[in-house]
Amino acid sequence: MGEEKTLEAIRYKRGSLQLLDQRKLPHESVYINIPDCDVAWNAIKDMVVRGAPAIAVTAALALAVELVHLENSYSGDPQDAAAFIEKRLSFLVSSRPTAVNLSDAAYKLQRLTSQASINNGATAKTVFAHLIEAAEEMLKEDVLSNKAIGEYGAKAILQAVGGKEKLRILTHCNTGSLATAGYGTALGVIRSLFAQGQIETAYCTETRPYNQGSRLTAYELVHDGIPSVLIADSAVAYLMASGRVDAVVVGADRITANGDTANKIGTLNVAVAAHQFGVPFFVAAPLTTVDIQINSGDEIVIEERSKTELTHAFGAGPEVAAPGIGVWNPAFDVTPAKYITGVITDRGVVWRDEKAHGLDIGGFALGT
Ligand code: MRU
Repeated sequence: MGEEKTLEAIRYKRGSLQLLDQRKLPHESVYINIPDCDVAWNAIKDMVVRGAPAIAVTAALALAVELVHLENSYSGDPQDAAAFIEKRLSFLVSSRPTAVNLSDAAYKLQRLTSQASINNGATAKTVFAHLIEAAEEMLKEDVLSNKAIGEYGAKAILQAVGGKEKLRILTHCNTGSLATAGYGTALGVIRSLFAQGQIETAYCTETRPYNQGSRLTAYELVHDGIPSVLIADSAVAYLMASGRVDAVVVGADRITANGDTANKIGTLNVAVAAHQFGVPFFVAAPLTTVDIQINSGDEIVIEERSKTELTHAFGAGPEVAAPGIGVWNPAFDVTPAKYITGVITDRGVVWRDEKAHGLDIGGFALGT
């Protein structure tokens, strides 16, 4: 284990972006310099940085850094500058398809800079400046949004478990500081419950095949001194059947208008088991994770990743599967809204309507 134990996935100051190489965790804390969008694209694709909010913020900041280095030599007019930004953003969006955060951030930045290009007195430099400031704002906003999710989530879970104290909470994948600009979404809710003295045990799944749970969530839980236990993904149903889970909280990569939720592969297994054993199942994500353009989970594009994530240890180490076997490796699955007790957002909680068996996410029926 390396000396420095950091939970800072993204290190940024104007003109400089560094990413903690999460492929090397928990053994080493190594930062990689990201000077431009090309390097950022590869870093996102190759999982140097991962987690829906973190990849969105990384993309925005990588473009900001690229523009800082380009602005003095750039000779185009403001419209050229906006067109250049649009091209770089759509390139970045092509790195990973499932999480809406990346395309949502790109859309907002593109709209902002295209408007800035027609302002009175606009120059390429002022257009670039709009993007740089907006990207920096996204970094700050993500942490604030996670803190709000943490507060709403702690309250919602305590309500769902009928005021029980000292909870056993299960989570899947990594949704903490390493998946966001800081604090985390679902893991932020666990942090918030822990800060209130309400955690007996946080259970984290391994999250096969890429082990975001055993490598990253476990690392964060140990770092924060939260009493925690690692389980195999295949132990979830048995853990619940033996009455050892009070509630589940997971993150989300995309939530559709009806509340269906795409999240890390294996989330659906956890949700079905929670439904079977009467365990409240919460999704925690910023409201921007809701994609109201899409009505149901059937329309979400699910990323399929390399077969080596299953056939080789850590995707590149020794072969752990029989050579020649076929592999199907979807990185995400979709949990139907009917299995979700509530969606905890940074603006409040959307509770499932028991009668409608659905979640009125598109209508933003928020309550606390
Ligand atoms: O493939 P990953 O590691 O990017 O998948 C991450 C997840 O599925 C997270 O649960 C989700 O992005 C929410 S992160 C706050």
